[in-house]
Amino acid sequence: MCGIVGYIGPRDATPVLLNGLKRLEYRGYDSAGVAVLTDGHIEVRRTAGKLSRLVELVDQTPLSGSPGIGHTRWATHGVPTARNAHPHLSANARVVVVHNGIVENFLELRDELTAEGVIFQSDTDTETIVQLVEKHQAAGLDLVEAARQTFQTIQGAHGIVLMSADEPDKIVCARIGNAGGVVIGLGQGENFIASDIPAIMEHTQQVIFLESHQMAIVTSSHVQIETMAGKSIQPKIHTISFDAAAAEKGEYQHFMQKEIHEQVRSLTDTLAGRVDFQAGRIRLPELKLTTELAQKIRKIYITACGTAAYAGMVGKILIEKIVRLPCELEIASEFRYSDPIVDENCVVLAISQSGETADTLAAMEEGRRKGAAIWSIVNAIGSQAMRVAQGSLSMQTGPEIGVASTKAFTAPLVDLYMLAVLLADLRGNLPDADRRALVSDLRLVPQLASRVLNTEPEIKKVARALKNVRDCLFLGRGINMPIAYEGALKLKEISYIHAEGYPAGEMKHGPIALIDRHMPVVCIAPQDPWHEKMLSQIQQVKARGGTVIAVATEGDELVASLADHVLWVPKCPWMLSPVVTVIPLQLMAYNIATLRGLDVDQPRNLAKSVTVE
Ligand code: AGP
Repeated sequence: MCGIVGYIGPRDATPVLLNGLKRLEYRGYDSAGVAVLTDGHIEVRRTAGKLSRLVELVDQTPLSGSPGIGHTRWATHGVPTARNAHPHLSANARVVVVHNGIVENFLELRDELTAEGVIFQSDTDTETIVQLVEKHQAAGLDLVEAARQTFQTIQGAHGIVLMSADEPDKIVCARIGNAGGVVIGLGQGENFIASDIPAIMEHTQQVIFLESHQMAIVTSSHVQIETMAGKSIQPKIHTISFDAAAAEKGEYQHFMQKEIHEQVRSLTDTLAGRVDFQAGRIRLPELKLTTELAQKIRKIYITACGTAAYAGMVGKILIEKIVRLPCELEIASEFRYSDPIVDENCVVLAISQSGETADTLAAMEEGRRKGAAIWSIVNAIGSQAMRVAQGSLSMQTGPEIGVASTKAFTAPLVDLYMLAVLLADLRGNLPDADRRALVSDLRLVPQLASRVLNTEPEIKKVARALKNVRDCLFLGRGINMPIAYEGALKLKEISYIHAEGYPAGEMKHGPIALIDRHMPVVCIAPQDPWHEKMLSQIQQVKARGGTVIAVATEGDELVASLADHVLWVPKCPWMLSPVVTVIPLQLMAYNIATLRGLDVDQPRNLAKSVTVE
């Protein structure tokens, strides 16, 4: 989704903005631009396409000065052209805006402004913001008050950053609703603004997150936070521990490749400090889970989107198996429209890498409104999903830049397992020996992941065999059924091969009609309680001439004798097996996409953080 960067201070803003936008590229965008205050007027450079084109444009027609604002746009209103790219200037070119979100009443506002004589320069909803600010300034308001009036007029959820040539000492920004964050980075005699921390991480680790319906007036030496009504707020300053180096590709060709290989470390960090192997106990203090709450819970709703939802599906199985407590996985975009039966004896547990997914935040709000306890498992530190939850587990993965989520899938699988063990323990329904065995199994996880990663050369061979297929079916059962969904999602989003995940037992109810020699079928068949069922599934595919790619446990000769290709995984306790079975599918998708010469980190039409409904 759109990325925002702002800078105010003694430096030339242009390189700070371009560099910050570069670090937000992973969010997905289709045009980019910067605006800088120079010699009393605002200069803008904008292009359609990749940031490299904007950099070329800035090289050809340089601009320098401060303050400045920049933006990468993911088109919602108006096609992705230079004309529709942000920043947008007001009619008198004295005010400029970048924006993340959708002005829901823009048609009405645009008609009103047009009737008053304003000539719009773009097809965007965003331009109404800057034209309204100019209108209020013309009526005598200063930038802050003109912006405040505007923020109160526009409908929808927004992150907005504005500056004016007439008040060059400040940038005004606002967060309204959940259209993505606005974070202010505090420097020495300079300040930074961004939609996401990676954009400013190299400059400062001290940050303020704007909450919904707050605005900020940022000068080079001061940050003033206010409510929309003008009441001053004492902000909380967070120290971000992400190391800037963690957002670099290093020796890897792509962020996705780096992030897949980082899983040994991220899984190790996920366990660190949370597992007491000696006592056989789990400690998750961030969740603020008391014995009283644990015993009161009657049902858990896990809610999430995309990959995070597939992690949630595994979580449902773990919680029901280990805790014996009803648990549902609800796709977040559906949750609030399904009139869920939620009350104060329920927990709504959101899972989100970005912590800013609009649908997930709305599902959390639905749970809160109905009185449930709200938990989250989130990667992006300080994000909304982390802040609004009563208890939040932080995924210990570091920034995930590749649009296709990988390490932020495996970490919550382990978090959910630990949560289930802790919950069962606090509810008093987990025999000591079982608890100790479940906890002890966790020590295997990083090493198991490492062994699968070492099989990449074999996986590459399978990728070569599959790189030109048109369709692919993924089948799994039980705890590995969500891995079929996730494997298919990984393949389709980065390789553009049509892929479908299916519960294996459902194959005979429809998808079997598709199977012929052109249909590769990935069968996730480790030695788990559903192994025999998967074997018969593999036989059914082979009987119809399909090509089978099996994910199988090392030494499984039976699967090897049936399948055309085998992606081997080490023997693993079944409740942790999804952590292991998904990795070959991540590597297979990655290698197929690179063999097809595709932009793995920024696949077409996708955004890393989906902050619109
Ligand atoms: C994952 O590969 C996808 N790009 C996407 O499905 C993602 O998982 C989904 O949009 C949810 O994002 P979140 O975890 O940031 O909430």
